[in-house]
Amino acid sequence: MTPIKECLLNKSTKTNPIWLMRQAGRYLPEFREIRKSNPDFIKLCLNHTLAEEITLQPIKRFGFDAAIIFSDILMIPYGMGQTVEFKKNFGPNLGSLDLDKLQIVTEDNFIKKLSPVYKLLSNLNNSKDLENKDLIGFVGAPWTLLVYMINKVSPKKGLTEAFFKDEILINEILNFLDKFIKIHIENQIKAGATIIQIFDSWAGLIQNDFDKFLYSPTLSLVNHVKNLGVPVICFPRGISDYVKFSKIVKPSMINIDYDVDPKDLIKYLDIPIQGGLNPEALLSNKESLRKEIKRYLDIFKDHPYVFNLGHGILPDTRVDMVYELVNIVRNYK
Ligand code: CP3
Repeated sequence: MTPIKECLLNKSTKTNPIWLMRQAGRYLPEFREIRKSNPDFIKLCLNHTLAEEITLQPIKRFGFDAAIIFSDILMIPYGMGQTVEFKKNFGPNLGSLDLDKLQIVTEDNFIKKLSPVYKLLSNLNNSKDLENKDLIGFVGAPWTLLVYMINKVSPKKGLTEAFFKDEILINEILNFLDKFIKIHIENQIKAGATIIQIFDSWAGLIQNDFDKFLYSPTLSLVNHVKNLGVPVICFPRGISDYVKFSKIVKPSMINIDYDVDPKDLIKYLDIPIQGGLNPEALLSNKESLRKEIKRYLDIFKDHPYVFNLGHGILPDTRVDMVYELVNIVRNYK
């Protein structure tokens, strides 16, 4: 059994399993090399040969306990017919949203457009490099995808009232998202994903209607994944109440951000926990990195815990700091 699966079953593991969010990409020189000659990011995600190579880059270097496929949460709006572009130093930029066009997108259209993602998973499923490791498929949560689809760009300055003005549009999109996210989950599992992670990167922006935007739509997905017999990790980044979220949504494991106090959590949570370390710790020096890592490992000594970060690894991270991190976690006693 893989180390992460053991952790999910509440078994004690010799050392904490480890992988890092956004481990494939950005900070790795070998990724940047490929990216240079592949300016169209969506096309790169749909090139299953290169996507396989990129997925395995961090595994070959660091021997993490899981590979996360090289893809993006915005492949779902792309599959639903909205254009998605990534501009240098700007982030994602989505095209106009046409409900009439969305209505005619069929399950077959969607699957055909994203078929290289499923091919990527089935190829990786047979990879020697992933023996006794998990293969993580992922989706964006309905709220975070709704934010991108309506706002068109990352809501770095938050959302204005205008975002919420068309309730009919919001409800329609949420319905479509529930349908297509489930299709994407199902096809990733069929192709060989052994765990699904749900990224709700902008959950912290929700101020009202938590049930409508957070709990109900996420619970619907979590139940779908569980019914397909695969564990599901939720990462509702930036919410204040991880305990309430976990009690309502009941994921197999919860990924925490670096704003929550892990000591508080273990008092009230009995499900496995993942993550927490501030990715900025990797930009400091080895001594403070060690201290920060030890703080998490000490707190989770008697709790099923997968080591990970409290958000994605930052593009400026030095590769030698990642080696150091893996070393510290693997040799912790
Ligand atoms: O480990 C991995 O990196 C696997 C693949 C992966 C990517 N995106 C590749 C990517 C994963 C798991 C994601 C998730 C993702 N994408 C999230 C959720 C996690 C999080 O970080 O909050 C979100 C919000 C997105 C949307 C997105 N994609 C943004 C905001 C950006 C631009 C800024 C950035 O993160 O670099 C992307 C582009 C993107 N996705 C890149 C990569 C490797 C960088 C593309 C480039 O080289 O320009």
